[in-house]
Amino acid sequence: MAVKEIIDALKSENLQDLGLNQNLAQLVKDIKMAGNTLTIVMELPRDGLEDVLRAKTIDVLSNLPDVEKVDIKFVKGQGAQTPPQHQPPQGAPGAPVMTQPMFTRKKVPGIKHIVAVGSGKGGVGKSTVAANLAVALSKLGYKVGLLDADVYGPSAPTLFGLKGERVTVDKMNRLVPIEKYGIKILSIGFMLPSEDTPIIWRGPMLMKALTEFLFSTNWGELDFLIMDLPPGTGDVQITLAQNVHLTGAVVVTTPQDVALADVKKAVSMFKEVNIPILGVIENMAYFICPSDKQKYYIFGKGRVAEFANTYGLKILGSIPIDPEVAEKSDKGEPIVISHPDSEVAKAFMSIAKVLSQVVQ
Ligand SMILES: Nc1ncnc2c1ncn2[C@@H]1O[C@H](COP(=O)(O)OP(=O)(O)O)[C@@H](O)[C@H]1O
Ligand SMILES: [Mg+2]
Repeated sequence: MAVKEIIDALKSENLQDLGLNQNLAQLVKDIKMAGNTLTIVMELPRDGLEDVLRAKTIDVLSNLPDVEKVDIKFVKGQGAQTPPQHQPPQGAPGAPVMTQPMFTRKKVPGIKHIVAVGSGKGGVGKSTVAANLAVALSKLGYKVGLLDADVYGPSAPTLFGLKGERVTVDKMNRLVPIEKYGIKILSIGFMLPSEDTPIIWRGPMLMKALTEFLFSTNWGELDFLIMDLPPGTGDVQITLAQNVHLTGAVVVTTPQDVALADVKKAVSMFKEVNIPILGVIENMAYFICPSDKQKYYIFGKGRVAEFANTYGLKILGSIPIDPEVAEKSDKGEPIVISHPDSEVAKAFMSIAKVLSQVVQ
């Protein structure tokens, strides 16, 4: 493979989405092919763009024959230590000077929409919702991935019957998601040495690595990447918000006081870091009694609607309580697959439709 062909391929990738009036080839400072390993030295036009430039380059090069390994090194360009170029708004004389953030929210190449599923509290069904929403979107014909980013309690391996699976890497050294029910799944759980890896190791180290996972995974083309966030308002959310362009977040709550109190905090946090909230999903909203088919609002009726109203949020849907959900989850079958005719599955299908309209 001639270096010229590589350069030509890199020319085809312009960097307008990063606010740069250049193509990838124009950043190349040095390029060497030794055996099947390609070493590229690239100028870094701005701090914080390493992940996305590496992902874009590998994306282009993975289509070329003969390149087996790519090693990309960055050297700082002129703008690399200054904040992004967009101009601060011109305030009136004497108005405080707006400081621009030092980070850039980057799109993950090939992915149309990244939707984060968050909650204030654990145990409200966030992972169940993320998994079934992913399957429901896929049933609607979308290409879907799921990133289980809950560093403290990864559940995708259980929910999809993939316990014990480990990630592999492709020839470009990208992580390969594991495919099940048509969903490309990557879980922190596929990377931990064992289920009882100490929490102290799981936390900070994995959080730092999360953005890197997103950009160094071979997702292919996706319409939706659903991301199961850890509960609460911690570092993972902030780091993601600063570095990744998310379409938005959905928040899951139950009608209980404790869950509602905590979800308020999650909503404030998403607002603070400027992640649009696409809507609220009310889980465990009611129980349909098998004998009389009546709906029983065990945790109270209308409370989530009231909450959503107060905060100006849309309710994407309400999901009933169904003991089958827990039972099938433990067996690795999302309820949308195992019981497509159940009320719960219908609720998920309806939420997926609403969500696909909200993001368009
Ligand atoms: N609608 C539902 N009906 C019955 N059980 C549910 C429902 N949603 C979630 N669960 C169960 O509640 C538990 C907690 O759900 P999970 O998705 O793990 O919550 P989280 O990710 O918020 O901690 C699981 O055992 C799950 O199977
Ligand atoms: Mg969970």
